Amino acid sequence: MAFNILTAQEAAEMINNGDTVGLSGFTAPGTPKFITEAIAEKAVREHEAGRPFKINLFTGASTSDHVDGVMSRANAYNMRAPYQNVPDLRKRINAHDCHYFDRHLSEMAQEVRYGTYGEIDYAIIEAADINDKGEIVLGCGLGNTPTYAKMAKKIFIELNDKLPKSLLGMHDVYLPLDPPYRREIPIYAANDRIGSPILKVDPAKIVGVVHTSSYDCVKPFTAPDEVSKQIGSNVVRFLVGEYKAGRLPKEFLPLQSGVGNVANAVLYDLGESKELPPFMMYTEVIQDAVLELLMKGKCTFASTCSMTFTDKTEETLFGDIKFFHDKILMRPAEISNNPEVIRRIGVIAMNTALEADLFGSVNSTHVLGTRMMNGIGGSGDFTRNAYLSIFSCPSVSKGGLISNIVPMVAHPDHSEHSVDILVTDQGIADLRHKDPVERAYEIINNCAHPDYRPLLLDYLNLGTQGQTPHTLKAAFAFHNAFSETGDMRNADYAKYM
Ligand code: COA
Repeated sequence: MAFNILTAQEAAEMINNGDTVGLSGFTAPGTPKFITEAIAEKAVREHEAGRPFKINLFTGASTSDHVDGVMSRANAYNMRAPYQNVPDLRKRINAHDCHYFDRHLSEMAQEVRYGTYGEIDYAIIEAADINDKGEIVLGCGLGNTPTYAKMAKKIFIELNDKLPKSLLGMHDVYLPLDPPYRREIPIYAANDRIGSPILKVDPAKIVGVVHTSSYDCVKPFTAPDEVSKQIGSNVVRFLVGEYKAGRLPKEFLPLQSGVGNVANAVLYDLGESKELPPFMMYTEVIQDAVLELLMKGKCTFASTCSMTFTDKTEETLFGDIKFFHDKILMRPAEISNNPEVIRRIGVIAMNTALEADLFGSVNSTHVLGTRMMNGIGGSGDFTRNAYLSIFSCPSVSKGGLISNIVPMVAHPDHSEHSVDILVTDQGIADLRHKDPVERAYEIINNCAHPDYRPLLLDYLNLGTQGQTPHTLKAAFAFHNAFSETGDMRNADYAKYM
């Protein structure tokens, strides 16, 4: 091989305080795992020697403990974008130790190309294979890799021998032209291929290759609890109803599904449904459940940005990769989450909320309105442009101390203009074609936990003014009650009137 072979430590030594680094991948898959650990070790040494050391780090989405965990514990981030989900980083962000820029995932790459974030000093790219011409077979997540590779002054490769070279053919690498020259993204069905199976980079920019060996380390799922199962069965009940009523075409529509245990439970239930036809997915992440659906033939094709599989499922994939070659295609985030394509092909979006309010607005990001949880991720890209946008959450959290249905969300990520359906373990609220008061009754009666229904009805009855009868003085009575007494059931509107 024509490139320098380096250790992760040698690569990390080249990265300096204040540098901006872009990583390949999307969630843990495809994300480098070794150089970032060595950068974190360097940060600790530098801090112990009394020298400043922080970098700006850009990714496709969340990463893993090998990146955000070690780097946060080392307090080595100045700026981080566009998404994360690691508890140690969450603490840094909420303590103002790290400037976190939480961004719609489809927009990040274009903004980097425009220079909004400044120059990219290094890209670190995980690869299954590379040749001397700089032609790379990527790993199991694509993210913003093509853009970071294009914009970076220098590139490190982590060549991971756990990734089979036969991943060749599962990527669709495509860089759109930037405005005002952009043409349509020519995807007319979820399984249309528009780009190249390899990523071509300028070989002169590759300063070193680090040999690695690691699966993607996606955490196994916990078995779905009763609440997740109930939410899953309610989502499927809703979709079956729509299908039977003829409001969904007989071929069905492509599905997007968020991440987490609830999302996994929904997909298992969809797989079991005899009443729904086989379907395609047009999504940003596929989890373990989707591989099973592909094997069963219930899902016929998955367009995604990442295969976020646990190590066991990754082994199943790699063991029979030829079977999956024409069934899974990984695309860059700006294509997997592209608003134009999502709207054109009529995606059914299914995402998870922290809380929703009586009129249908959703908070996905900020616990009690102030503390960053993860970020908006792709939920905005899909919700705003979907044919049908479904949000789900448990009706209550923390054993009932928190109602996830509140008078007014404490941080709005998705407005009532974009949210069509709300699902909890209690039932389904269909918000389409309903005015604000009708929506409120639908949500209270079908989605709120019975302990909170009288309190929510009382709130609705406080407001007499305007089409959306909020009473602003009392709108955060639930949140205040939790902050003051630890239980939203103590909400007292009279205190604020
Ligand atoms: N107020 C305060 N805390 C709340 C809450 C609320 N309204 N709702 C949930 N929580 C707490 C839970 O109790 C739980 O706490 P714990 O970790 O101490 O047990 C935690 O928040 C997570 O709740 P959970 O219901 O398990 O959430 P989840 O894992 O299903 O994730 C989101 C929900 C909204 C955080 C997650 O879907 C997300 O980050 N969404 C934005 C990104 C996105 O949608 N991407 C989609 C495209 S892949």
